[in-house]
Amino acid sequence: MKTRWYKDAVIYQIYPRSFCDGNGDGIGDIRGIVSKLDYIKSLGVDAVWLSPVYKSPNDDNGYDISDYRDIMDEFGTLDDWKEMVKGMHERGIKLIMDLVVNHTSDEHKWFIESRKNNSEYRDYYIWQKGRGKNGKKPPNNWKSSFVGPAWEYDKESGEWYLHLFSKKQPDLNWDNPKVRQEVADICNYWFDLGVDGFRCDVITYISKKEGYPNGSASYTVGPHYHEYIHELNERSFSKYDSMTVGEAIGITPDNATESIDESVGEMDTVFSFDHMQIDYKYGFLPAKFNLVKYKNILARWQSLPKTCQPTIYLENHDQPRCLPRFVGDYKDKREKAGMSLATAMMFLRATPYIYQGQEIGMTNCHFEEEEFKDIASLRVFELVKKICPILMPYVKKVMNRRARDHARTPMQWSADKYAGFSTAEPWMKVNPNYKEINVEDSEKREDSLLNYYRKAIRYRKGNEVIIKGGFELVYPEDKRIFAYMREYNGKKILVIANYKNKTVKFRVPEKLLYTDCKLVLSNYADAPQKLDNMTLREYEALVYELD
Ligand code: GLC
Ligand code: CA
Repeated sequence: MKTRWYKDAVIYQIYPRSFCDGNGDGIGDIRGIVSKLDYIKSLGVDAVWLSPVYKSPNDDNGYDISDYRDIMDEFGTLDDWKEMVKGMHERGIKLIMDLVVNHTSDEHKWFIESRKNNSEYRDYYIWQKGRGKNGKKPPNNWKSSFVGPAWEYDKESGEWYLHLFSKKQPDLNWDNPKVRQEVADICNYWFDLGVDGFRCDVITYISKKEGYPNGSASYTVGPHYHEYIHELNERSFSKYDSMTVGEAIGITPDNATESIDESVGEMDTVFSFDHMQIDYKYGFLPAKFNLVKYKNILARWQSLPKTCQPTIYLENHDQPRCLPRFVGDYKDKREKAGMSLATAMMFLRATPYIYQGQEIGMTNCHFEEEEFKDIASLRVFELVKKICPILMPYVKKVMNRRARDHARTPMQWSADKYAGFSTAEPWMKVNPNYKEINVEDSEKREDSLLNYYRKAIRYRKGNEVIIKGGFELVYPEDKRIFAYMREYNGKKILVIANYKNKTVKFRVPEKLLYTDCKLVLSNYADAPQKLDNMTLREYEALVYELD
């Protein structure tokens, strides 16, 4: 049944609220996506991962779902959605939907029922008595990812409910078999409507340790995690030629085979976070990017057995843009830097994900305090103002590097008003650099980053060395260059990417000197055709086939 098509797939992520507004109300929507299907096709990608479009009160922009079987009004109707899937499939593009089932919205009918003490839905969620005298302290020390305790007191019943995210996102109780069946039914409902897979939101949080002991280890890849995913796979994923990718905090190269080896029957792939944490300290404060660490983390994932498929991404809707993070001060070489990052990423043994706008080199945006929209940012400001207002200027600075808002500014389609995203004022600030950075302009220039992504995707497609080959870092300790070899059945490719805005010497490893080679991709017009010791120019990127 499973063709495992994702091994040779490139996936494009759409954050619908910020992609394209089809009806002029300032909010991206499904008709907007439909109007851009030819553009998506032109990239050469095989699938789209669409962030949630289900009914939602939008406390966390759709990651709080109040009805899993219908579409959010702002985004359109189920008929619009059907037209979108049809349009994708006609173009040979598959659709991966977001599956947010660690929690629902507090406006979901299950939770509304669950609040009533004697309801049959009570046990759909996690209700606990509080600690201390009168139970006025939360049941344990778990923290919400959006600041503050992960428990909310409910006056009526005198109990607390768990929410690992906002208090409008109560956690489902996966220990209840009815909940697990509901989730499988939801998946099958969408599979039957034509979806090709799911991206499973914070999926490693679904199983909580019995008795809810203190500490986040009690809910990260918890005691029944494998059992529950295996069951979901049996009831749903395995019945379709589907693919799944789990947002998998706690799954590392050391334990990944237990989750994603093809023989396991759980999820096909996972998103990991280790390579995204290098430029942070204490998990939060910005720190210097360390290329050596970065390469070694990716190399660990590359070394997994062939029956485990890694993923690679540089951006998504929760991360700031990759350019300001990974390549230093790129000055006027923004696109060259983007090409260097694209080169290092696109030829790994992994399923690459490209986030909307990454292909044209969108950047972070400067936000004044009132311009931040993301619940995570707002909660941080709220807390700092309460406990230590003097820190606000510093925190604003940090958030201007780190906030999820950076990924959520409207997609820059053209130099027209509102970046061609909408005819009305968008829900979220447009990055003022849209006049220089936009799709229309990128289309006009053969040497744009956009066209470079297209070439890289084309070269990757169907290329066995890239899809199946072995991986070896070249100069793992080099702080400036990301270079690696891939090899399959005697065929080899050498990938070289200069991460610096300066010239850097590259010595060709002894064993490769003067081998016959063919330059297949480069980001400077007059790149060296022959593999010899060379001086790489600023952000120069090269891919050679070797014999
Ligand atoms: C995931 C999503 C993020 C969301 C959170 C809660 O991390 O990617 O956007 O806020 O889960 O659903
Ligand atoms: Ca709209």
